Amino acid sequence: MCGIVGYIGCKKASPILINGLLKLEYRGYDSAGIATIENDKICCIKNKGRVKELQNSKDINTLNGNIGIAHTRWATHGKPSSTNAHPHLDSHKNFAVVHNGIIENHNELKKFLLDAGYTFSSETDTEVIPNLIDYYYSKEDVADKERFLKAVNKATLDLKGSFAIAVISKLEKDKIIIARKDSPLVLGVKDDEKYIASDIPAILEYTNDIYILKDGDIAEVTQNDVVFYDKNLEKVRRELESITWDAKASDKGNFEDFMMKEIHEQPEAIRETIGIRITDNKPCDFSDINITKEYLSEISKIYIVACGTAMHVGVAVKPIFEKLTNIPVEVDIASEFRYREPLINENTLIICISQSGETADTIAALKNAKENYAKTIAITNVTGSSITREADFTLYTHAGPEIAVASTKAYTSQIVLLTMLAMHFSETLDLHKDEIIQNLKSEMMELPSKVNIILENSDEIKAFAKKIYKEKDLFFVGRGIDYAAAMEASLKLKEISYIHSDSYQSGELKHGPIALIEDDVTVVGILTDRRLLDKSISNLQEVITRGAKTFIITNQDIDKKIFPNIFNIPKVHPFLSPTLSIIPLQLLAYYVAKEKGLDVDKPRNLAKSVTVE
Ligand code: AGP
Ligand code: GLU
Repeated sequence: MCGIVGYIGCKKASPILINGLLKLEYRGYDSAGIATIENDKICCIKNKGRVKELQNSKDINTLNGNIGIAHTRWATHGKPSSTNAHPHLDSHKNFAVVHNGIIENHNELKKFLLDAGYTFSSETDTEVIPNLIDYYYSKEDVADKERFLKAVNKATLDLKGSFAIAVISKLEKDKIIIARKDSPLVLGVKDDEKYIASDIPAILEYTNDIYILKDGDIAEVTQNDVVFYDKNLEKVRRELESITWDAKASDKGNFEDFMMKEIHEQPEAIRETIGIRITDNKPCDFSDINITKEYLSEISKIYIVACGTAMHVGVAVKPIFEKLTNIPVEVDIASEFRYREPLINENTLIICISQSGETADTIAALKNAKENYAKTIAITNVTGSSITREADFTLYTHAGPEIAVASTKAYTSQIVLLTMLAMHFSETLDLHKDEIIQNLKSEMMELPSKVNIILENSDEIKAFAKKIYKEKDLFFVGRGIDYAAAMEASLKLKEISYIHSDSYQSGELKHGPIALIEDDVTVVGILTDRRLLDKSISNLQEVITRGAKTFIITNQDIDKKIFPNIFNIPKVHPFLSPTLSIIPLQLLAYYVAKEKGLDVDKPRNLAKSVTVE
C-alpha cells in the first residue's frame, strides 16, 4: 500500500512531490513525509495525518532542493505517527528511504545492524533499509562511481518480503536509486526531469512517457539519464511506454469527490471497454489475445479468482459463463484459493480479476495456479501492472484511473468485459448460442445510456439515504443474477459509511438471518431476475411481516402497495442487469456516507491497492 514519489530535475522538488502525494493518497493516508537534499544535507519533514497537513506545515517552504523523495503511508509495522512516517534515515543521516511493502526479515536485519553499531528510532520494518545501505556503502571502494548503486543493490539482496524503494543520499547528491520487488514503481521522463511514483496518475500531468519497472529491477536515476539493472547489476533495457490516460482523468473535475466522479464516468468506461470488441453481426473481437478453439476445448473448469469488489464481479458473471460456454465455473476469494490447494491442472482456466493489477493475494493465486499448470487470464485496468507480467493472457478494462478507494467504474467495466469474454468463448467453441449472443450484443451497446438514465434520477436515492443514514444495520438481498449486486452493495456501504450490513440470497433468510429482522430494520431488495420474481417477492413479504422496511431496486412491475419504496432501473437482458442494478446502490452508499459527513474517497483503515498479504 502507500504512495511513493520522487523527483530529480531543474525545478524545486517539494511542490512536485507534494502534488504527487496528493494524487497517491488513495494508497494510504495515515501519515506523510518528504525529504530533499538542501546544500549538503538531507532535510526531512514528516507528520501524522494527511498530506494536506504536510503541505501546510510551516517548514515545508524551507525546502528548495531539486532532488527529493516523499511518501504517504498505510502502516503495517508501527502505529501511524510522525516518527514512524517515511522517509527513514540511517543513523548517520547519509541516506533517506521511502518504502512501500513489508520487510519480513526486519528483526534479523535489525539485530545485525544493532551489533554493527547502528541505532533505530522508529518501530517500522523500513528503517533497516537505510541503515543497511549505509553499512554496505561504508564497505565499498571510496573511489567507485557506482558506490551508491552497489550499496543499495547489496541491501536489497538481503531483504525478504516486498518492496518498492526510492533512496537519496547526501554523499551522492545527483541521483536517486530506485528498486522494486512485488510492489509497483514507475518512472516518468521529460527532458532533464525524472519523476518516480508508485502509480501512474501521480506523474501524468508532467509526462506521458513512463517506464514501468519490472520485478527485481534497480535503476540509477540522474537528471539526464536512467540506467536499469537486474539484481546482478547487469544492465537491462526497458521500453518506454506512452500512456494514453488523460491527466484530467486523475483530477476531481467539477465533482466533490473522486467516487462521485467515477460513478458518473461509468457510461464512458463501459463504452471504452466495449470498444471495438462488438461490431454488427461479427463475432466478438478478442484478436488481441488469440485464444483458439483448441485451447478452449481443453478447458474443463474455470475458476474466477479475485478479492473484494473484483470477486463480486466473478459472482455476477459465473451464470453468464456457465450458460454461454457450458463450462462449470467456481468463484474464489484469492486469499483462500492460494492456500486451499484447489484441484487444478492443465485443463483448468484461471481468470484473475484485479483493477489495480497489484493485489498481492490475487497475484499469488495466479502464480500458484501457473505452478500447477493451469492456464491463466488477467483482467486489469492498469497497463503493465504486476499481474500482467504473470498471466498467460491479459485483458484490459478501459475505465481510466480509479482513485476512490471504493471501486465503482472498475466493477461495471469488468462485468462488461467478462460478459463479452464469455460470448467470445461461446463463439470460438461454436456452441451456436446465436440468439442469446445477438441479443446481448445489441443490448450491451445500450448500457451506457441506461446507466445515464439511472444517474439522472440520483435524487431519489439521495432522499432515501437521508432516511436511513442513522441506522446501525442493513440487509441487502437478491436471488440468482441479483445476488452479486447485494454483495457488492453491502461492501460499498460498509466501506464508506461504516454501517454494518450483510447480504443474503433472499431464499436463505429463513434459514437463520430472519431472526435479526425486527421493527424498522431496512432490507434492500434487488429484483431484476424475472424467473425468480415471485419467489423474491414472497421472501421480502416475510421480512415485512416481521416489521422490516424495504427499498426495492427493480426493472419489473411490482406492487407499490406492498413495496412503497421502489427505485426503477431500465429494463435489460437479465445477464446485463448486474451492471445496472449496482448503480443506485453505489449512489446509496455514497449519499449515506455524505449524510454522515465522512470522507468517501479515503475511508478509514483502507487503501486502494492492497499490495500486502
Ligand atoms: C472495493 O471497493 C474495495 N476497495 C476492494 O474490495 C477492492 O476491490 C479489492 O481490494 C481488490 O482490488 P483490485 O481489484 O485492485 O485487485
Ligand atoms: N511497512 C512499511 C511501514 O509500515 C511500509 C508500509 C507502506 O507500504 O505504507 O512503514
